Amino acid sequence: MAKDTLTVTDNRTGKSYELPVTNGTVRAMDLRQIRTSEDDFGLMTYDPAFTNTASCVSRITFIDGDKGILRYRGIPIDELAEKATYLEVAYLLIHGELPTRTELDSFVHNITFHTMVHENIRELMDGFRYDAHPMGMLTSTVAALSTFYPDATDVHDADSRMLQMHRIVAKMPTLAAFAYRHRRGLPCVYPDNELSFAGNFLAMLFKMAERRYQPNPAVEKALDVLFILHADHEQNCSTNAMRGVGSSQVDPYSATAAACAALYGPLHGGANEQAIRMLQEIGSVNNIPEFIKKVKGGEGRLMGFGHRVYKNYDPRAKVIKKLAYEVFDAVGKNPLIDIAIELERIALEDEYFVKRKLYPNVDFYSGIIYQAMGLPMDMFPVLFAIGRSAGWLAQWREMLEDDEQKIARPRQIYLGEELRSYVPISERDNGFVAKPARPTKTP
Ligand code: ACO
Repeated sequence: MAKDTLTVTDNRTGKSYELPVTNGTVRAMDLRQIRTSEDDFGLMTYDPAFTNTASCVSRITFIDGDKGILRYRGIPIDELAEKATYLEVAYLLIHGELPTRTELDSFVHNITFHTMVHENIRELMDGFRYDAHPMGMLTSTVAALSTFYPDATDVHDADSRMLQMHRIVAKMPTLAAFAYRHRRGLPCVYPDNELSFAGNFLAMLFKMAERRYQPNPAVEKALDVLFILHADHEQNCSTNAMRGVGSSQVDPYSATAAACAALYGPLHGGANEQAIRMLQEIGSVNNIPEFIKKVKGGEGRLMGFGHRVYKNYDPRAKVIKKLAYEVFDAVGKNPLIDIAIELERIALEDEYFVKRKLYPNVDFYSGIIYQAMGLPMDMFPVLFAIGRSAGWLAQWREMLEDDEQKIARPRQIYLGEELRSYVPISERDNGFVAKPARPTKTP
């Protein structure tokens, strides 16, 4: 009869062990009993980059990469993009359920009334060089917020936790817009409580001398949808940073700064910039066949194509592609879209890409929209961070409320030197040669 167990035979000792299989996983700690002797530390797993290790149980986001499925709390991403607002989605991610009208009104009120930052933050921003990268400014100032809210250190107090979550979701657009204005040498624009979450962000970015900034409704809607599409993506690099750093029970501003830093990297939040650079380099639809030939020959990659998890069309890319035309109708077409559409058409018919299951990912079209909205490339990861903050916080809260979680602390395989003595500096040029390394495990 079928059993939910795994039988392992250790050929070093001939002993067999029966390990429980739960939710398609074995517990790494169950391997510790597999030992060759009393003083053996026990068997561990080796998984650089965590490609086959579940670090947590989560009930927030579900991805089926083969089928191209992405759901937040069970609801498909395309349904949320079409029908919900970003703040509704943020509530859903954090609380687990869609809000009632009263709950949503209260949540929106809380976020709206926490958008302001202390004047010292604005002054701090002034200290950055005129050409500082906005992602560096965002990362630093979100970390600085922890010094303004000492109550945030009480991560075990549910009310305090919720207050900090409201503050972070609310203040991220303000910090992002201040960073953008600083970069452009423009005075900061303070939040406008009469506008929507996305509308207020657009006002803080683009308001000039007019009495009141009126966001373009199509752009406002598109930005809100882009925030929804980026709101969570289960255990990606920045979310893992949020959970890992948060597991030390540091305040959530410091943990969010760590997540921002992870997102800053070109392999994570920076791929849409690379996609734009690639489209600019191709320059014309006529140059696409030559470019594809080069990619197939191993000269570079088709940026915005392929994904570690999705082996099908990224469901977010489908939504963004449609959204692009709605933005172009409002603000004018970004000519790069013609190159992108043709590139996609050719690639999806080409055996090289078909065989490797390479489809457009979220980054293929998002940069084209941001550019059409008038945003420079170095703001792309900043926009990503605003949307993702709801997901980071939902994951942070889930981690803190999970009794099985402790401070994150992976093991290592030590292959360095064995015990040796300190050599005085005067004796070090005498042909001292380190002994060859021998593998040992450390507890
Ligand atoms: N263009 C051309 N060939 C590609 C591409 C691409 N974009 N992506 C993968 N391949 C090829 C590889 O050369 C490899 O071919 P081979 O089997 O002949 O060696 C095969 O497809 C598998 O590629 P891997 O690198 O093993 O796939 P992996 O899952 O590790 O990489 C990744 C995923 C990093 C996203 C990759 O597809 C890539 O570099 N894409 C371009 C960058 C990009 O768009 N990143 C954004 C990802 S979405 C996000 O992070 C928000």
